[in-house]
Amino acid sequence: MTAITARAHTNIALIKYWGKKDPKLILPYTDSVSLTLNDFYTDTTVEFVDELAADQFSLDGQAQVTTKITPFLNLVRDLAGINLFARVESTNHVPTAAGLASSASAYAALALAASRAAGLNLDQQALSRLARRGSGSATRSIYGGLAIWHRGEDDATSFAEPLPTPDLDLAMLVVLVDAGPKPISSRNLMANTVETSPYYPAWVTHNQQAAQQMVTALAQNDFAAVGHLTEQSSMQMHATILASDPAFTYWTPETLKAWAIVKQLRADGIPAYATMDAGPNVKILTLGEQVPKILNALQADFAGRVLTTTPGPAAKVIGAQ
Ligand code: DP6
Repeated sequence: MTAITARAHTNIALIKYWGKKDPKLILPYTDSVSLTLNDFYTDTTVEFVDELAADQFSLDGQAQVTTKITPFLNLVRDLAGINLFARVESTNHVPTAAGLASSASAYAALALAASRAAGLNLDQQALSRLARRGSGSATRSIYGGLAIWHRGEDDATSFAEPLPTPDLDLAMLVVLVDAGPKPISSRNLMANTVETSPYYPAWVTHNQQAAQQMVTALAQNDFAAVGHLTEQSSMQMHATILASDPAFTYWTPETLKAWAIVKQLRADGIPAYATMDAGPNVKILTLGEQVPKILNALQADFAGRVLTTTPGPAAKVIGAQ
């Protein structure tokens, strides 16, 4: 069968997804809103092959176990009605040590490449639902620019859709904070937050409202509101995580330092808003014209540790042979 190569870009949630109502189907408790990024992406080639006795998977040229991707490939095999094993080769295009290698771009690229390689021609909504089964954040990486993942009620209704492109020159800076080894998988931490954080129900209520407010703020090109909602969703997620049992935080002293710089920039009239995911790096949402000023403000503490990017494109097929 044809080998298909697909490229998908990672995304950063402005309104976060944190917590699964259904861990098997990956149905989230709240809607989320994200920005797909131009400079960080995964290329994945999938070929279903007659003579293979098991799936094979390599990442950046290194052989990997297939415990995660085989169940995902089984979904594709079931949809397509085939029973061949697959050869899967992925390359992450993320600057070394950025800590941004993401399950979002990985499963979005795999969903597109595997479905096409199996002879399916899924539309974007079906691809988004399929990518969701690999990793929640991948649901949104099927689309370029801004996307909203509707939490839905079941497999059929939980998918992302693109949001109209606002008249805003969005840019994002990534401040690289030394991560060290991951103490706990984000998937397990997410489940523990849902189970043990007394703040979780409040977070769900606020975050669900925030997703709707974000859609409105974007439609109105209101960057101050977009930025404020972005920072609040992240802070509320991290506060909810901190209140879990056992208590936990991804924050390091450098995370706080970067956030303090962002707050000072705003006090100086520069629109800059911080957001953090399952790690200590700080991403700064801003407008393109502000990037030089922000780089300058970060220079003293984070020289050589800041990446700049802009909105990126939708997942696409880039090769077939
Ligand atoms: C903090 O999508 O990695 O980045 O669904 O368990 O694979 P799984 O989780 P994942 O979690 C992303 C969490 C986040 C927020 C977000 O991207 O919305």
